[in-house]
Amino acid sequence: MSKVIVITGSNSGIGKETALELAKRGHTIVMVCRNEERGKKAQEEIIQITGNENVYLMICDLSSFDSVKRFSEEFRNQFGYLDVLINNAGTMTYEREVAKDGFELHFQVNYLSPFLLTNLLLDCIRPNGRIINLSSMAHRTGNIYFNDINLEKDFSMLKAYAQAKLAIILFTHSLAKQLKDKNITVNCVHPGVIISNLGIYNDKKVLRRILQRLKWMFSSPKKGAETVIYLVDADEVSNITGEYFYHKRVRKSSILSYDEEIEKKLWDKTLEWLSPWL
Ligand SMILES: NC(=O)c1ccc[n+]([C@@H]2O[C@H](COP(=O)([O-])OP(=O)(O)OC[C@H]3O[C@@H](n4cnc5c(N)ncnc54)[C@H](OP(=O)(O)O)[C@@H]3O)[C@@H](O)[C@H]2O)c1
Repeated sequence: MSKVIVITGSNSGIGKETALELAKRGHTIVMVCRNEERGKKAQEEIIQITGNENVYLMICDLSSFDSVKRFSEEFRNQFGYLDVLINNAGTMTYEREVAKDGFELHFQVNYLSPFLLTNLLLDCIRPNGRIINLSSMAHRTGNIYFNDINLEKDFSMLKAYAQAKLAIILFTHSLAKQLKDKNITVNCVHPGVIISNLGIYNDKKVLRRILQRLKWMFSSPKKGAETVIYLVDADEVSNITGEYFYHKRVRKSSILSYDEEIEKKLWDKTLEWLSPWL
């Protein structure tokens, strides 16, 4: 059955490979990108390769909650429903940056905005729908720093990235419980260590050079997309929810990610932070 699939950050890396393969399989793809030019280029390439004309581009910048809200309204008007939401877009910055709404950039782009987008689109997801959140094995070093959520006192890229990727797993666990009787699954994925654009816009030349040298350790974006595509289409996962996948298998995520007290506190705080947009 052809599905309507929304993929954030689908103009490059894992998201683009995911869009390409799912378009090949005949699904309707809504590419959600922040940059019109980069988005259009990828959209045209995917249509040209697959011959699938049902590949659409919509603009949304996850570093702005207004943009997420605007996009969800435009999507609702244009499509009305979806079957799969892939929260793929992500960022990694060496310097501490603050998004338009005052939150530390990793926390907003990699966690708060996917939370907002998912909740705003939830009632458009059809029965048997699937939500897939891109996490990372980096979450294992993470914690939720409720007393310094924007890492103003002590920032490092890995600390910020790990906090956000742990937060999206806690969100996955919470949402899975809430959707238990709704016939919608929600899972998260570690895609592997993938060579992509993640982090390349940073100016720390030394780190960039190290990453270039270590290229051989990385897998391709196509490989990184495999588990995501599996979660979209495979029948055997249709009833699996609230899990963390790696290499198409359920894995245990970190001990903290199963802490129900942290999970509830984060959910409640997030609702508070996002209340003007929800
Ligand atoms: N690469 C890895 O080894 C690895 C490992 C674990 C998890 N992941 C996760 O996998 C996902 C995909 O990453 P990737 O490796 O494919 O990286 P990528 O090539 O950099 O792709 C990231 C995508 O997110 C988009 N994006 C970034 N900031 C955005 C914003 N503010 N609003 C909207 N879109 C935004 C980017 O758009 P632009 O092109 O406009 O920047 C791009 O399309 C991310 O969530 C990442 O954290 C990756």
